Amino acid sequence: MELEFDIFKAWVKDRLKMDLDSYKEKQLHRRITSVMTSAGCSDLKEYAALIEKDSHVRRVFLDYITINVTEFYRNKEIFDEFEAAVNDVLVPRFNSLKIWSAACSIGAEPYSVAMIMEKHKIRNAKIIATDIDDTILVKAKEGKYKDSELKNVEAKELEQYFHRSGNDYLITDAIKSRVQFKKHDLLLDRYEKNFHAVICRNVTIYFKNEAKNEVYRKISESLEKGGIFFTGATEAIYNPASFGFRKLSTFLYEKV
Ligand SMILES: C[S@@+](CC[C@H](N)C(=O)[O-])C[C@H]1O[C@@H](n2cnc3c(N)ncnc32)[C@H](O)[C@@H]1O
Repeated sequence: MELEFDIFKAWVKDRLKMDLDSYKEKQLHRRITSVMTSAGCSDLKEYAALIEKDSHVRRVFLDYITINVTEFYRNKEIFDEFEAAVNDVLVPRFNSLKIWSAACSIGAEPYSVAMIMEKHKIRNAKIIATDIDDTILVKAKEGKYKDSELKNVEAKELEQYFHRSGNDYLITDAIKSRVQFKKHDLLLDRYEKNFHAVICRNVTIYFKNEAKNEVYRKISESLEKGGIFFTGATEAIYNPASFGFRKLSTFLYEKV
């Protein structure tokens, strides 16, 4: 099975351009076995052949592996800290802001940032949001959300920034137009530079240590001095100085 798994990973890298070697092994193994079994396949060779010929199976595989759970203002108390840092640290420091929401899933995270910009009347902010997953980016651009993804959004904001659409909520064009979505793989693609804030949350938990450290190193390089890195609630950095960061709080780091 080990050899078969290695061959499958090499095949995925070649055919689907996804680097599974950087994802935590045990977790990945479990998820692949589970998604393969639900596709009715009994081994990885058969599963690879099915992925190759059936685009739906391919889609399900990629969706399952990339895990896109998210919500607006995820971990609200930490998002509040980020909002305070935008006002107290970034706005006084920079004339305009360039912000990156990396691994943005269906857009709840970058749209939360756009709502913060709107709320504080920060006009000159460019928000770039990226993810490895094409399908998820289509959904992000559509901007349609369920109640469960909006539980941290205040009633006033819900009224101001969303339209009801059946059982769902659609984000307004004013918020939508503040975010530019692009495809980007944190493991394989080059990183843009000159950001004043990078938000990269709940994705490095799936990466092996070496890959995670490489992502942190590249994020540090992509930030301007005095810019901020906002991590996920289980992704505190234990040795921030080694990446050129100074700790502002457990999940916020300043590029020094
Ligand atoms: C759990 S979601 C996190 C969404 C959002 N950042 C949050 O914290 O709510 C993880 C996202 O990482 C994306 N992802 C997984 N591997 C990636 C990679 N190598 N490069 C970029 N995005 C990746 C997935 O497609 C998924 O949308």
